[in-house]
Amino acid sequence: MPVKDTAALAEAGAQQFVNQAQLAITAHKRFSVALSGGSTPEAMHRLLTDPHYKAQVNWTKVHVFWGDERFVSPDAPDSNFRMGQESLLQHVPVPPQNIYPMPTVGLTPEEAAERYSQTLNDFFGAATPQFDLIFLGLGPDGHTASLFPGFPEVVTPGDRLVTIVKDAPKPPPVRLTLTYKAINGAANVIFLVSGSNKAEAVRATLQESRHVAKYPAQGIDPKQGHLLWILDHAAAQYL
Ligand code: 6PG
Repeated sequence: MPVKDTAALAEAGAQQFVNQAQLAITAHKRFSVALSGGSTPEAMHRLLTDPHYKAQVNWTKVHVFWGDERFVSPDAPDSNFRMGQESLLQHVPVPPQNIYPMPTVGLTPEEAAERYSQTLNDFFGAATPQFDLIFLGLGPDGHTASLFPGFPEVVTPGDRLVTIVKDAPKPPPVRLTLTYKAINGAANVIFLVSGSNKAEAVRATLQESRHVAKYPAQGIDPKQGHLLWILDHAAAQYL
């Protein structure tokens, strides 16, 4: 059921964040969430800092990761980490040691991917991460995180948890991204998608026969988890 507009999308996403945080913290005393990049999540992040939502989360038990990152300085305008910090994390009491940015300084992209894989292994203590919640966006070309149509990790998904993209069609070109293996172990995956420019990608992803190489978001299929699409009317208009 699509929501009315971008404001309703942010509300729906924020409510899911709160619900899943409460369930996870009650069940296993912590909430591991991977934030999406891009612009769509920003309104949801800001809403979570509103007293109504903020008061419902025990932020000291929240552990924050990212689904993908541009290989830029953490204070660069197009850093997903910076967006998460400015729109959410600077305004809620998540302990600094519970914030796990994808490293983009002092390492090659390959080293950074390896380092983040180790971070995930250390945190989850398992071969496959089990995030409590992962937020994802969708590009007009059907990419999600930094899993782009026709790219190696999408065409032949590997065994790594984090991989690099060197010539992404969406600038900046060099990126780090969780892989399908890292994402599909999650208990909950939520797509937040807004706008007419995503409507065709939404239609193709949800209604075309499975062709992950062409529609990367079709590869998001949490084996033991729940997948939820939160769309506004504009993004859902071709369904
Ligand atoms: C990124 C994102 C990317 C994003 C989509 C949608 O780092 O660019 O992770 O996958 O979610 O491209 O971006 P918008 O929300 O800006 O439309």
